[in-house]
Amino acid sequence: MFQRFRRTRLNKHLRALVRETSVSVNDFIYPLFIRSGKGIKTEIASMPGVFQMSIDEVLKECEELKSLGIYSILLFGIPDVKDSIGSDSLCEHGIIASSIRAIKEAHPDMFVVTDLCFCEYTDHGHCGIIDMKTQSVNNDATLEISGKQAVIHAKAGADMIAPSGMMDGIIETLRTALDEAGFENLPIMSYSTKFASGYYGPFRDVAESAPSFGDRASYQMDPANRREAIKESISDEMQGADILMVKPALAYLDIVREIKDNTSLPMAVYNVSGEYAMLKLAQKHNLIDYERVMMENMIAFKRAGADIIISYHAKEVAKLLNSK
Ligand code: PBG
Ligand code: ZN
Repeated sequence: MFQRFRRTRLNKHLRALVRETSVSVNDFIYPLFIRSGKGIKTEIASMPGVFQMSIDEVLKECEELKSLGIYSILLFGIPDVKDSIGSDSLCEHGIIASSIRAIKEAHPDMFVVTDLCFCEYTDHGHCGIIDMKTQSVNNDATLEISGKQAVIHAKAGADMIAPSGMMDGIIETLRTALDEAGFENLPIMSYSTKFASGYYGPFRDVAESAPSFGDRASYQMDPANRREAIKESISDEMQGADILMVKPALAYLDIVREIKDNTSLPMAVYNVSGEYAMLKLAQKHNLIDYERVMMENMIAFKRAGADIIISYHAKEVAKLLNSK
């Protein structure tokens, strides 16, 4: 005897009753790119709708985000001056520290997450200190200054720290540094399974963080590796991460599911710049029903096991959800 699956599909209210997955505005974190100056709001050619903004513009943006119901943001700083160790990120008056202070002062009700890495701040564009002999990132030297960066963020008022550099031992290092500085209640969301991906292309335009030589394959993960992807995230859980993440999102939903089945920590996905840009371009050329495909992606992230979605689509999704 066959089963009549269509029975529960014929009425839209019944479809709503049996729906297994939902997307809410509470699920989102919205990325923001901040540089010094006043009145700056520059759209990025490869990412329509995404801007580099000065702090005053970001404060206005927060107002709009709140009106949409989005309270969580992820900050990326773009410094005026870059050097070999990313000094701007280690300074209380650097772009990231100043931004955090300004946002928390004007909008204490915003939840401010900071991306902790060095690639936006270094002149070579790599995610840490370069070892001259091997011409690659020195893991342990980078750990030392990462602790410093975390405490700078914390003192400026960050609500959560999100290390994205894929250095081994980063979570243990940051946890210890934060605890020693009295920030034992500050959560860490780890970019725990981050692949070396071509999907980050447009981001490197907006963050001005493309490596000046080589690539990130010696520290970010090989997209071909599934078992290693699980180990990376579980290792961060054991080091004390509070939230795990898979990045990019769309091509890696199998990994999201598998990690989800191996942890009880909350999980985030990063719906990255290239994923966003592809949809935007398809929209521009009238190739797809943009809003429908966007929401299909969001549902897919949740269905795969993500609790949190970091996405440039967050505002559009919120508008859509609020209009229903
Ligand atoms: C910095 C960082 C990157 C992204 C987030 N944090 C770029 C990279 O690793 O090259 C990518 C985000 C996106 O593509 O939207 N380490
Ligand atoms: Zn980086």
